[in-house]
Amino acid sequence: MHADSKTLLEPLPTSFTCSKDADALLDRALEHLMENIGPDDGHAGAVIASPSRADPGYYDFWVRDGALVIKALQLLQDRAGKPTDPLAHEKVLGDFVRFSSLCQQVTTADGLGEPKFDVRGNVFTGDWGRPQNDGPALRAIALIELANRRLDGGAGVDDLKYLYTSDLPAESVIKADLEYVAHNWWKPCIDLWEEERATHFYTRMTQRRALLDGAALADRLHDPRAAAWYRQQAAFIGAELELHWDPDAGHLRASIERVGGIDYKYSGLDTAVVLGALHAEVPGLPFSVADDFVLITALRLRQAFDRRYQINTDKRGKPGVAIGRYPEDRYDGYRTDRKGNAWILATNALAEYYYRVAQALHARSIIRLTAINLPFYRALLPKQHGDALAVGGRLRLGETPFEAVLESLYRDGDDFIRRTLAHATDGTLSEQIHRDSGEMTGAPELTWSYASLITALLHRPKGIAYS
Ligand code: NOJ
Ligand code: NOJ
Repeated sequence: MHADSKTLLEPLPTSFTCSKDADALLDRALEHLMENIGPDDGHAGAVIASPSRADPGYYDFWVRDGALVIKALQLLQDRAGKPTDPLAHEKVLGDFVRFSSLCQQVTTADGLGEPKFDVRGNVFTGDWGRPQNDGPALRAIALIELANRRLDGGAGVDDLKYLYTSDLPAESVIKADLEYVAHNWWKPCIDLWEEERATHFYTRMTQRRALLDGAALADRLHDPRAAAWYRQQAAFIGAELELHWDPDAGHLRASIERVGGIDYKYSGLDTAVVLGALHAEVPGLPFSVADDFVLITALRLRQAFDRRYQINTDKRGKPGVAIGRYPEDRYDGYRTDRKGNAWILATNALAEYYYRVAQALHARSIIRLTAINLPFYRALLPKQHGDALAVGGRLRLGETPFEAVLESLYRDGDDFIRRTLAHATDGTLSEQIHRDSGEMTGAPELTWSYASLITALLHRPKGIAYS
């Protein structure tokens, strides 16, 4: 990271229409993201949440944000065509593993659920919502992926010692996170927005995925008893996830069994549910991206925000919908007693969600209409098709209504990204979009905002064209 880098970085483009533009946009976003890794006054593997040191103070490493950034970098390695600098990426990944190990060894009030550290790896000891148990789960998911890629690339068990060994107490980074998750998942904790102490859909999704990925890695590395134990705990979590469905509300509730923290999240609607599917789905298990319960929750969330914020009720030609964390949000990026705004990472998450639903449906090649998912599909189709849809109906790949669904998903995905860009008028991404003025607000150059744009674009189908 360079002190004067701001002036060197090119701004993001303000819109995009085709895959070529999407590629250019992705490259820009990546440059901005890389600026926030390895600050001059910190450890090489420290990912800062934002360069903003005060008001708001985001010049710190959050385990969650860091893990999501690393996940985005790994996804980039699969990018077809022009490779991004592979050596630079490998270095960042290695530095991140070392920094993670450093942070894990710090004694903290809540073990590995400690949410943030400074750029040198000192724990933040002030008043804060802790533990946040999605952090170690997300880090495990990201680093297990790294371990698997190294094994696929020919690394041996010995090369992976730093990442995973069967030793207990855990001496390796992944094992430490997995053990923490496996022993603590059932405890209430603070959610990803750092506000409510309860049982959280997002956190549980990340924990289930971490343990299942961990079990598969343990098998690969000859640690069968650990694998069995992780699988068993993952199955318990799977059963508990079902409790988030609220049949009266008709959507998944982000949090249940509240025991503390903020108490005004009445609707239960929350982008966290969509993020849970995006960051931690396990294909074939409940609550994957195109699962009926997640689909309807995403629709209700989108509808809730379409009626909210001046920038949505009076769009002034802007496409899509600007999405917030959850409707009752009171954090404006600086203080928590105000009116919440739209968030870049939430709006981009919806883009990624629509693209990934399209991918999943395409792979399935059939849509079975149910009482739960019908409103989602109806909302996608123009009236003439929409009215023909009914519970029990089937749409098949290659037939007009199915194609219309896909086209609509692509278009909506693009519109969410266009919406983000329409507000990024100075070519950078902050944390939030002001609900009335539409200006960037909250922490500037938020790393996760760029990561969310990158992962959305990486899931955008290539060369799509629609009328
Ligand atoms: C800052 C957090 O990061 C934000 O999510 C939260 O709303 C406030 N602090 C209040 O805890
Ligand atoms: C506030 C967000 O609510 C939280 O999810 C994030 O980890 C921190 N800001 C740091 O970006």
